[in-house]
Amino acid sequence: MEYDLALSGRLYIGGELVDGAIGIKDGKIVAVKKQIPGALDYGSKIILPARTDPHVHLRDPGFTQKEDFFTGTLSAAFGGVSCVLDMPNTDPFVYRYSHLEEKEHVASRKAVVDYGLYVGMSNNVLDEKALKRAPALKIFMAPTTGGVVNELDDVALNYLLNIMADYPQVTVFHAEDSRMVKEGPAGDLKEHMRNRPSEAEEKAVERLIWTGKDLHIAHITSEAGVEALKKKSGQTAEVTPSHLFLTMDSDLENLAYAKVNPPVRTKRDRDALWGALRDGRIDMVSSDHAPHTIAEKEEFETSPSGIPGVETALPLILASVKKGLITFERAVEVLIEAPARRFCPQKGSIEEGKDADLIVVDMKDIREIRADELHSKAGWTPFEGMDAVFPQDVYVRGGIVIKNGNFEGERGFGRNPWF
Ligand code: NCD
Ligand code: ZN
Repeated sequence: MEYDLALSGRLYIGGELVDGAIGIKDGKIVAVKKQIPGALDYGSKIILPARTDPHVHLRDPGFTQKEDFFTGTLSAAFGGVSCVLDMPNTDPFVYRYSHLEEKEHVASRKAVVDYGLYVGMSNNVLDEKALKRAPALKIFMAPTTGGVVNELDDVALNYLLNIMADYPQVTVFHAEDSRMVKEGPAGDLKEHMRNRPSEAEEKAVERLIWTGKDLHIAHITSEAGVEALKKKSGQTAEVTPSHLFLTMDSDLENLAYAKVNPPVRTKRDRDALWGALRDGRIDMVSSDHAPHTIAEKEEFETSPSGIPGVETALPLILASVKKGLITFERAVEVLIEAPARRFCPQKGSIEEGKDADLIVVDMKDIREIRADELHSKAGWTPFEGMDAVFPQDVYVRGGIVIKNGNFEGERGFGRNPWF
């Protein structure tokens, strides 16, 4: 069989590293073998499936001073991400088909990796035509950046989840009880946490799990939230590196860099999140990449909530393997396999028939994160100086996007498989 491209190295297959080769044709993996003559040989370097990031805010259209589909997907590629799912809180807020079409028009010309576009709900409108061309529906249970809140009582919540049961699209919740969230001023991370207490998360998660319906919970941040997940039955949940690596006591050049909804909390909460990520109560890692400009982040009290992170999520967690915080196998599961299974099943494993989305990593190549070496428009990171394992090469559907740490991709190469 003729291949467009073949790669060899240490492949991660079925939970193990094995020496082997991958044959690629028309963007798909068509062969996985011991050897393929003429394959580009990565030697002892590891070849993993690339990552799907199920929660990013690329700000386009509407807020392109913060990010756009080119810079956001470029940043994703450098972080080993071959598919991003973009949240609806852009301008216009995406809840009707016309909004989705407008965003698709913008994204398809700029994206360097694949993407899907969430739809949201506004004024109680759930647009079926839009939903069918989205990977997922986002419900904001509490106010956050971007404005739309979906106040659902138990009857409305169950009604919505019953409707959603007829669709393959995932229903994703920002889980904070709006009645327990204060929108008043906060001067520092502790006050921000007081305005948005763990109990608000616990209450919302309990309500969601209690429905017994299929759904996904975004960014769990607290020990109480983790406890509430104990009763989950088929539902899934994510955690972000912001909540795994930062606390309200973090020593940062600018505390507003750690201002996010729901907030970063105590060391005890952070440790509970790591425990839950290891033992499976938390299923996956999302970045909740939410860039804002440096100028917007200058003053804590007026700064919008949100932290960029699509480029640093995989690198930070891979570097945590060395520190013993998580096993290599579990890291691959929560970063790569679980998000793909849940949101984008044609990606996320080295298997015949899957998209040839692959990254090459050297686990010994640990570097410190530097804001000025990242590719988001934000230009800042709260993870400055932290250890990271960045991928050396990144392929999307067999096309090279990053080679030896340099961008070799193409604007507009990214596809939306749902649209
Ligand atoms: C997000 C944003 O800036 O869009 N902010 C955040 O603090 N996480 C919105 C959100 O996901 O809540
Ligand atoms: Zn978000």
